[in-house]
Amino acid sequence: MEKQKKELQQKLDAAKLGGGQDRIDKQHAKGKLTARERIHFLLDEGSFEEIGILVTHRTTDFGMQRQKFYGDGVVTGYGNVEGRLVYVFAQDFTVFGGSLSETHAEKICRLMDMAMKTGAPLIGLNDSGGARIQEGVRSLGGYADIFYRNVRASGVIPQISAIMGPCAGGAVYSPAITDFTIMVENSSYMFVTGPNVVKTVTNEEVSSEELGGASTHSTKSGVTHLTASNDIDCINQVKQLLSYMPQNCECKTPSLPFTISEEIREELDGIIPDSANKPYDMKAVINGIIDVDSFYEVHKDFADNIIVGFARLAGRSIGIVANQPMSLAGCLDVNSSKKAARFTRFCDCFNIPLLVLVDVPGFLPGTDQEWNGIITNGAKLLYALSEATVPRISVITRKAYGGAYDVMNSKHIGADLNYAWPSAEIAVMGAKGASEIIFRKEIKEAKDPAAKLLEKEKEYADLFANPYSAAERGFVDEVIEPKFTRRKLIKAFGMLENKVDTLPRKKHGNIPL
Ligand code: HXC
Repeated sequence: MEKQKKELQQKLDAAKLGGGQDRIDKQHAKGKLTARERIHFLLDEGSFEEIGILVTHRTTDFGMQRQKFYGDGVVTGYGNVEGRLVYVFAQDFTVFGGSLSETHAEKICRLMDMAMKTGAPLIGLNDSGGARIQEGVRSLGGYADIFYRNVRASGVIPQISAIMGPCAGGAVYSPAITDFTIMVENSSYMFVTGPNVVKTVTNEEVSSEELGGASTHSTKSGVTHLTASNDIDCINQVKQLLSYMPQNCECKTPSLPFTISEEIREELDGIIPDSANKPYDMKAVINGIIDVDSFYEVHKDFADNIIVGFARLAGRSIGIVANQPMSLAGCLDVNSSKKAARFTRFCDCFNIPLLVLVDVPGFLPGTDQEWNGIITNGAKLLYALSEATVPRISVITRKAYGGAYDVMNSKHIGADLNYAWPSAEIAVMGAKGASEIIFRKEIKEAKDPAAKLLEKEKEYADLFANPYSAAERGFVDEVIEPKFTRRKLIKAFGMLENKVDTLPRKKHGNIPL
C-alpha cells in the first residue's frame, strides 16, 4: 500500500502545480493569484472538496498527448462561504491559458448539474483564453454545454462570475448569462475578439484595456456590475454579494440577527432642499433608511441616474431601486431602465423584497433617447416591476411625474404599499410645463403674460404638486414624515414577509428585450 499511496501523492502534487512553477511565477508577476489560491481565499478554511483533480484532456492532435496536466486547466469543487454551501470553478491560466477543452467543459458542467440538484450558488472564477484552439469544435460544443446549463440554472440558483484575467471569445458569454459579473481592474479583459482581430476587421487601433477592461465595461457597456482593485478585493466582493442572496429560488433571503429599537432617523427630515429644482443625494436617503453600513451598490458607474443595490433592513436583505436626482435630475433613460429592470428581475427570482425610492421628473426626452429605443427599454422596467411578485414598497420623496410615476412601482402596477413624503409632487408634468400647455390661450391673451403664467403655475402646483391628491384616491397609502420612514418600512416589510402572489399560468412572459 505504501507504494500506491506514494503514487497517488505524486499525482496530487503534480496536479497542484498546474502548468508548472514557471507559469505560476508568471501569473504572480502579473499581480494575479493562481486558481487554487483564489479558491483558498474564497472558501471557509478547510472546507474545499475538489472534484475531478485527476482529469486530463483526450486530445492527440498537434502532439497534445505529450502535454497533459492534471485538472486540465480548471479546479472544480464545493465548499462553504460563511458556512453556506457553494460550488466553485476556478480556471487555471497556467494550463493552456485556462482555455476550455472538452474535458474542462465537462468538469464545469458536472459542477453545474450538482449545484442545480442540491440548490446552491455557483461561483465561476474566470481566467481563460477561450476555446482551446487545438480542440476545434469539441471546445465550442463544451462552451455551448455550459451556456445551456447557465440558462437552465438562471433564476434557480444564484450564479456569480468573477473575471480575473483575459476572457476572450466563448469565455465571455457564460458570465454574460450569469447574475453578476465582477471584473478585476487592470488584469482582466472581456471581449468577443481581441485588438488584433479588431484592427484587421475594422482598422481600429485599440488597446485591450480600452476595448474590454474593467473601466470600459463598468462605465460604457455596463457588461460588468462591479469592479475590484485586485484579486483579493474581487473575492471579498463575491462573498459580500452572496451574503444578501438565498441559496436558491425556494429559500427565503438571509437575515442577520437584529434587535429593533426606536428606529427614528431625524437626519432624513433635512435632506429634501426647499427648491424643487435643487438636486440632493438619494444615497443619503438610502443610508438614512437602512441598517448602518449595509448598502452594497451594484452597477455604480453605469447609468448613475438610477441607483440599484442590496441592503439590510432590520437584518433582512432587501433590494433597492432609486432615482438619483444628482444625475440627469433622476430622469429615466435607456440605460437606467435596463439597469433597474435587470436588478429587479434578479431580486424577484430570489425572493428579495424591493424598496423603490422615487424622485423622477419623467423619461429623458430627445432624439438620442428615442432613436436608441427609450420606448422599448423603458418598457423593460415597467414590465419587470409589474411582473415582480416579491414584497414591493415605494416611497415617493419628491417628484413622481408622468409615465415615470406609473413605472416606478406605482400602486397600479402591483406595489404592496406606497408611501410619500410631504415634499412629494405627483402629477402628469411639472407646473410650468403643464400651465404653458393648458392655459396657453389665457396666458397669451393676458395683459401681463408672465404674471399670468406665474399665477397659473401656482394654481396647478397648489392642486397637484403635493401628495394629497394621490393620497385621497388611495394611490398613496400614507403620507409620512421622512424621519419615520425606516420604522414604517421595517413594520411593512415584516407584515409582507409571508406574501404569496403568483402570475397567471403561462410558459413564460415576453419581456420587451
Ligand atoms: C490554447 C491557449 C489559448 C487557447 C492561450 N493559450 N489561449 N492555448 N487555446 N485559446 C496558451 C498559450 O499558447 C500559452 O501557452 C498560454 O496559454 C498563455 O498564453 P499567452 O498568450 O502567453 O498569455 P498572454 O500574453 O497573457 O495572452 C493571453 C490571451 C492570448 C490574451 C488570452 O493568449 C490570446 O489571445 N489567446 C487566444 C484568444 C482566443 O482567440 N481564443 C479563442 C476564442 S474563440 P504556453 O504553453 O506558452 O504557456 C472562442 C469561440 C467560442 O472562444 C465561441 C462560443 C460562443
